[in-house]
Amino acid sequence: MTVHLVGGGPGDPDLLTIKAARLLAEADVVVHDALVDPAVLALVSPAAELIDVGKRPGRPVPQELITELLVQLGRRHRCVVRLKGGDPYVFGRGGEEALGLQAAGVEVEVVPGITSAVAAPALAGVPVTHRGLAASVTVVTGHRRVGDEEATDWEALARVGGTVVVLMGVAERAAIAARLMAGGRPPDTPVAVVERAGTPAQRVLRGRLDELAFLEISPPATIVIGPVAALDLAGAAAATAYSASPTG
Ligand SMILES: C[S@@+](CC[C@H](N)C(=O)[O-])C[C@H]1O[C@@H](n2cnc3c(N)ncnc32)[C@H](O)[C@@H]1O
Repeated sequence: MTVHLVGGGPGDPDLLTIKAARLLAEADVVVHDALVDPAVLALVSPAAELIDVGKRPGRPVPQELITELLVQLGRRHRCVVRLKGGDPYVFGRGGEEALGLQAAGVEVEVVPGITSAVAAPALAGVPVTHRGLAASVTVVTGHRRVGDEEATDWEALARVGGTVVVLMGVAERAAIAARLMAGGRPPDTPVAVVERAGTPAQRVLRGRLDELAFLEISPPATIVIGPVAALDLAGAAAATAYSASPTG
């Protein structure tokens, strides 16, 4: 009789929380989206029903239908897991689902997950904050366009400084880079792009802000912009070399 909004982390099942793994094994029904890795779904009990509501091009599932489905399942089953990539409340529309379930009188619990906004950079050897390089990090969607109600003021963001982590930014990367540079970010600002972080297909590309438009990237990818993107702490050898440097 509870719907658990569960964060599935960046893809590697070892990066699930213990609570998420337990709920996946106990659930009567698991409703998941497209970005959830098959290795995570493998933890679901064979007796459970798996429902894929992933939003893919050409086969969109309206958000209201997903929320309504969760309400119906929540009324019928003891344990429903709504499994999302990363954290349910970081660009995951988990908040809308929680509100819909609350309004329908269905008990809802959130189980936070490791968001790709932090995990993807970390797995690529990039710390999102680092003493002397970045004292703040802004996580932003690249999806909003000029004229949207919640359109991002990229020029203002450029002036804030620190690290900018862009989710859903692949399609708009040329415009994002141009506007950050127009706002004052130097063209040689380091950039790191992490595709499919935490999965066997993880790929890391590095470059400068004025090269971002030309990097060949396929989603899902997380874009990290700022001096920290020049760091590569992914390997033990790299970490040792860096900590030995005077700026470490
Ligand atoms: C709709 S948002 C959901 C974010 C998710 N709730 C989270 O906390 O990670 C999807 C975006 O997250 C990023 N993303 C999700 N999984 C990723 C992964 N495995 N590697 C890199 N980026 C990922 C991409 O920017 C993708 O477009």
